[in-house]
Order: sequence, then C-alpha cells, then structure tokens
Amino acid sequence: MSKAAITGIHGYVPDYILTNAELERMVDTNDEWITSRTGIKERHILKGEGMGSSHMGSKAVAGLLEKMNIKPEQVDLLICATTTPDYVFPCTANLICDMVGIRNIGSFDIQAACSGFLYALTIGTQFIETGKYRKVIVVGADKMSAITDYTDRTTCVLFGDGAGAVMLEPNDEGVGVLDSIIKSDGSGQNHLLQKAGGSRYPPSHETVEKRWHYVYQDGPSVFKFAVKNMADVSAEIMERNHLSGSDVAWLVPHQANKRIIDATAHRMGIESDRVMLNIHKYGNTTAATIPLCLFDYESQLKKGDNLIMAAFGGGFTWGAAYIKWAY
Ligand code: ACO
Repeated sequence: MSKAAITGIHGYVPDYILTNAELERMVDTNDEWITSRTGIKERHILKGEGMGSSHMGSKAVAGLLEKMNIKPEQVDLLICATTTPDYVFPCTANLICDMVGIRNIGSFDIQAACSGFLYALTIGTQFIETGKYRKVIVVGADKMSAITDYTDRTTCVLFGDGAGAVMLEPNDEGVGVLDSIIKSDGSGQNHLLQKAGGSRYPPSHETVEKRWHYVYQDGPSVFKFAVKNMADVSAEIMERNHLSGSDVAWLVPHQANKRIIDATAHRMGIESDRVMLNIHKYGNTTAATIPLCLFDYESQLKKGDNLIMAAFGGGFTWGAAYIKWAY
C-alpha cells in the first residue's frame, strides 16, 4: 500500500500586523504579560470588507499549485480545515476551489478547532492510501479575528489570521504520513467555544448583546488539558512507532501557547532547537498553525526526517501525526 506523502507546502498571512504595542492601546494588557505568558509578539489580521477564510486559503492553494507546477484540473480532492468558515454554507472548501479554478471534484470542510489540520490530514491520507485519489490538497485556513472580542484581554491577544496548504500524493519509498491519532472529548465543550451562530443559539439581538459570537475560553482549564493531552498523544504515537526523542528531527506543534509547546517538547525529550516555532509572528491561527510552521521551516527539512505533529483545541479535540518528510 502506498503512503500519502506531503509533496509540497505553501502558506499565506495577510499584510496587516497587529503588535502587542497596538493591543496595549486597545485593552488593559502589556507586552511583558503577553510575551511571558504566551510567547506572542505580533499576529497578522485580514482587513477588508467581504473577505473570509477562503481568501487566505485560496492564496495558499494558488501558491501551492504554482510552486509545484500543478494545474487545477489535476487535483482530485480538496479538504479545508476551518473553524471560521466564510458562511454556514456553502463550505469554505467549495469557495477555495472556485477561487483557484478547481472544478468538478469533491471538496468539503472539517471543523475540529485547533486540531482541524491534523484531522483533515488524517482524512486526506485515507483517500491516497486506498488508491482512490492521487492528488489531495489539505488546507488549514482561519480568520480568527472575525470571532475575537477585541475588548476581552484574555482572548484578544492570542489569535491571528492565516492559511497553509499541503499537497498529498502517493509514495512507495517508505516516506509520508506513517501514522496518526485523532481524539476528542465533548465534555470539554464549555471551556472553549463560540456559543452562538449555530443551530442551538441562532443569531439574535440577545446573542449579540451577550457577545456570544466571540470565542469564549476558560484559559487555565484549557491550558491544563492542552499540556496533558498534547504530551500524552505525542508520547503515544512515538511509543507505538518505537521512536525516542533523539529519533525525531522536528516537533511540529500547534501554536497556542509557547509554554504548552515547551512542556510537550520536554515530555518527548526534544531540545528546543528541534521544535518548530512561529507563534511570536502569527499568534494562534487555529487550523493554519501546523502548515504555516511547515512552510516557514521548509528549507530546513530533509528527506527522511522524522516529524511529529501535535495539536489540541476546542471540543476538546487533539491528535498527533508521525511523518517521514518526503523531499
Ligand atoms: N494582559 C494582562 N493580564 C491578563 C491578560 C492580558 N492579556 N489576560 C489575562 N490577564 C490576567 C488575568 O486577568 C489574571 O489576573 P488575576 O490573577 O488578577 O485574576 C492573570 O492575568 C492570570 O490569568 P490566567 O488566565 O490565569 O493566565 P494564564 O497563565 O493561564 O494564561 C492563557 C492565559 C494564555 C490563555 C493560557 O491559559 C492558555 O494558553 N490557555 C490555553 C490556550 C489553548 O491551548 N487553547 C486551545 C487552542 S484554541 C482553539 O481551539 C480555538
């Protein structure tokens, strides 16, 4: 059976940079608190009316196709992980396909909050391994600024906007996505959620007044779950693939908080110089953090490198993937 290999990667962040200094003028916060508690210095924000996650996702996908010299009609399937879709429907994957000229193929969204990219990658992998498709694009795209309350200092410092896309193709050389684990626990729902806008609490004057269309997060509770589960699932995937810390070339962690990343790396026995980190530049871009890490570190990756991806997010959802880099 062929494995699904990541054969290309591209990322996109919008131009506008929201710095800690600007946030200091918006809410009662300061650069020292944000940097020491989260590791974030700045984040990119998508400005402009009528632009959603699809705008950034399409930039990432168009860049990927151009870079790989692949025509839109060669793509077999496109999956978009997002928690901030442009619309309730149609899905953002449909919109991205339209924007880049991909027609008449299957495309759909996956929603697993900050674990969305890992979930989508796991699903995309199945279509390659079964032999059904030969070119599957997995995109992570989130416009978190659309659901961030810029009067709430406990959440507004955390999030940014961005997108990243990978190409999956069959490979028989023993490289590619070798294993993945996805998990969830819905009892975590009340610790991290956007309460209104779905079918339980459709938009109303009341939901807007109560600010239920913004991210709500009980930070310290989520922090505890994130540290434990990201570390546990990373240890689990390493153990079942007989990997020790020294076998891992790169940890590719979801970028929610540098302290969570440090704790996960410590548990795995991985030194900080082998941990991909870009939270200082982008903040938490939800489904885009992992592909944006791969994009930023692409030139440092070598064929055969062992990568462990790990993520944790709302739901709760979490997971890990073991990848042998293919190029
Ligand atoms: N500036 C200054 N002070 C602040 C700020 C701020 N921006 N935000 C909170 N504080 C204050 C609090 O009010 C509190 O003050 P008090 O002690 O007087 O009450 C104090 O700082 C400590 O607040 P905590 O919330 O306990 O701070 P903590 O160290 O837990 O850090 C954080 C908060 C960064 C949110 C952390 O809890 C965290 O990273 N949580 C997990 C995030 C995560 O992994 N999310 C999952 C993915 S997101 C997704 O799926 C969409």
